[in-house]
Amino acid sequence: MEYLLIEALQVSYRQNNQHTPALKDFSLSLPFGSIGVLIGPSGCGKSTLLSVLADLNRNYQGTVLINGRSPQECATTALILQEYGLLPWKTVGDNIRLGLQIRGCSKQEIAKKTEKILHRLGLSGLSKRYPAQLSGGQRQRVAIARSLVLEPELLLMDEPFSSLDALTREEMQVLLLQLWQETRLTILLITHNIEEAVFLGQKIFVMSACPGTIIKEYTNPLAGGYSTRGKMGFLELANSLRAGLRGLN
Ligand SMILES: Nc1ncnc2c1ncn2[C@@H]1O[C@H](COP(=O)(O)OP(=O)(O)OP(=O)(O)O)[C@@H](O)[C@H]1O
Ligand SMILES: [Mg+2]
Repeated sequence: MEYLLIEALQVSYRQNNQHTPALKDFSLSLPFGSIGVLIGPSGCGKSTLLSVLADLNRNYQGTVLINGRSPQECATTALILQEYGLLPWKTVGDNIRLGLQIRGCSKQEIAKKTEKILHRLGLSGLSKRYPAQLSGGQRQRVAIARSLVLEPELLLMDEPFSSLDALTREEMQVLLLQLWQETRLTILLITHNIEEAVFLGQKIFVMSACPGTIIKEYTNPLAGGYSTRGKMGFLELANSLRAGLRGLN
């Protein structure tokens, strides 16, 4: 069953009375409970796509359906932004509690859910710190905790691991896989990193330069295997992606 269905999507930005297209003829579908990865050159419209899916931009043409509903009707989507979007004046705990408070959950429920997610992401000892007092990897985990505590159906991630060092990045990829196996969320993740795409993406979508459209789509049976990185097929797919992306920038 297709959870995410996008057909002939078109998004333009207006500047100086001129319409500049950011996405054109963009179509994509993603089954329920799977991980899709979107990869493409800088400025090709990846963040634009997520802003439409997260209902931050209603100025689009074409079909965008999340489980049969428009983004506007769909309250079960979480978005993790390129720079995490944590509130710097709130502690880790308060950042995580905020979404539940906005939803009007009871104090007990908030305390219970917050504690559970802090524990799951290894953040229990850090709940009274402020984002500036955390490492990049810890900050990233807070951003994930803050989204997951709301039990979303669809998780959108905009280059979530790009500012992490290589090892922390791989740890975070494994953590994301574990969380996905526990929750069976549908995930759409943007990355510039080819190995990350092959490690995580059951479906990998390659975008053209701006205005962005999908130029290639891979179904990737290697995704989600913890020991997949060293396999021959992993390298072959990474090479094929690299060749496809070359010259797009
Ligand atoms: N608010 C805006 N007003 C006008 N143009 C915009 C706006 N936001 C983005 N654009 C333009 O639309 C295009 C797509 O931008 P977008 O941020 O979606 O790219 P991206 O693929 O996420 O890039 P990156 O990989 O660098 O994050 C770019 O050419 C950008 O300059
Ligand atoms: Mg972007």
